[in-house]
Amino acid sequence: MAVVQRGVPPSLSAKVTGSFAYLTIRDRLPTILTKVIDTIHRNKSKFFEEHGEEGINAEKQAIALLSKLRNELLTDKPVIELTDGLEDADSWNEYLQRQQRLQGDQEPVSWFTSPWLYVECYMYRRIQEAVSLNPPISNFDVFNEGKTQSFYESQKAVMTLCTFLEDIQKNAEKLSPDRLSEDFNKLLQISLWGNKCDLSISAGQDNSQKISPIDALASLQPFILVNDSGMVWSSLMSSQRAGESVDRVDIVLDNAGFELVTDLVLADFLVSSGLVRKIYFHGKSFPWFVSDVTANDFHWTVRQTMAANHKWMSKRGFQWQNYLKVGAWSYHDHPFWTQPHEFCDMAADAPDLYSRLQQADLVLFKGDLNYRKLTGDRAWDHTVEFSTALQGFQPAPLCSLRTLKANVQVGLQPGRGEKLTSRDPTWMTNGKYAVIQFYSPKPV
Ligand code: F6P
Ligand code: MG
Repeated sequence: MAVVQRGVPPSLSAKVTGSFAYLTIRDRLPTILTKVIDTIHRNKSKFFEEHGEEGINAEKQAIALLSKLRNELLTDKPVIELTDGLEDADSWNEYLQRQQRLQGDQEPVSWFTSPWLYVECYMYRRIQEAVSLNPPISNFDVFNEGKTQSFYESQKAVMTLCTFLEDIQKNAEKLSPDRLSEDFNKLLQISLWGNKCDLSISAGQDNSQKISPIDALASLQPFILVNDSGMVWSSLMSSQRAGESVDRVDIVLDNAGFELVTDLVLADFLVSSGLVRKIYFHGKSFPWFVSDVTANDFHWTVRQTMAANHKWMSKRGFQWQNYLKVGAWSYHDHPFWTQPHEFCDMAADAPDLYSRLQQADLVLFKGDLNYRKLTGDRAWDHTVEFSTALQGFQPAPLCSLRTLKANVQVGLQPGRGEKLTSRDPTWMTNGKYAVIQFYSPKPV
């Protein structure tokens, strides 16, 4: 018999025909898999040049595994265990058992019947398996092309942003506390809207930033459904000890390309203004949800920014390299970020990561997938408090910066969701709306 947790709504799932989860599994995920297969095929000669016949065999094998995966998905086959023996494989296989227990033993865990969050994450882990089972190409990032292209196509916006930060810094000496909080707000919103640019919602199509991110802010303001930025600022201020800088802010990154640059600029502002001493960036340990940041993407972006043929842009790049060198910035990954768990499981399932986050003064969670994991990707009523939907996940003061791309949204005023639905029926998934949603375990 299926186990139902009391008071917690069910997980979103593709069971509901026509739902966004259903359309994602039916249309978007197979499209992404087809593109992955095509990418591997297009790189055949590169694999041959690097590894000879072995490279060609690896390409064939990986494609065979991915085609099999695509077929399993399209025909709603049971989810199967991972066989690659990687560090996280046991934990994935245990999670499959857990899902089976939750679902009951009537029907197997499968693509269209089980939680959307779980099966969508599982697809990316199976892509990783297909590549890792073929050692000559096991380090190949199947999403790299799209990520680098999205960085190049946002160059103008990146330059504008770096020039904006340069102007802030020129006047830094004279900045009043009000002005500082105003600039913080702007950069927080730029980082928020940077999240429009992910490549999984567009199944890999160009989604880069082409207009000035600063000019766009005023017109985007009405689309921020919850704006707790004042509380985020107050929380930062209250963490300053005796007028000293805040010790540490963590940024749980989402997408590479323009979004990553907006996060780096925000982090740069926090450190260069003396507000914060250290920034911990958290990224993914393998290619994930098409455009998410891996260590390679992170360092590549810093290097590209340094190499730019634009004075203020390359200045930022050198500054970022220096922050990394002196330890003001550091990049961290942890297997938990590429697992399917709701974040309320973190304390039990990844206690080391939970205690690391507990040491932060503020944790910023970027993007839609992180929001789905924060709230468990459940069918919550829109008026449920954010703190309730977190289900006990409270390592530190935290804030979600997210444009809406999936149908879960909490913390709205009564009637707001209904009004939005009547005006714009796809408001939860069309990426036009956003939230800056804050929660603190201690009073701010
Ligand atoms: O819902 C659309 C979607 O592709 C989801 O599959 C995923 O939650 C999300 O978008 C990815 O967006 P982000 O990069 O903001 O996490
Ligand atoms: Mg993403």
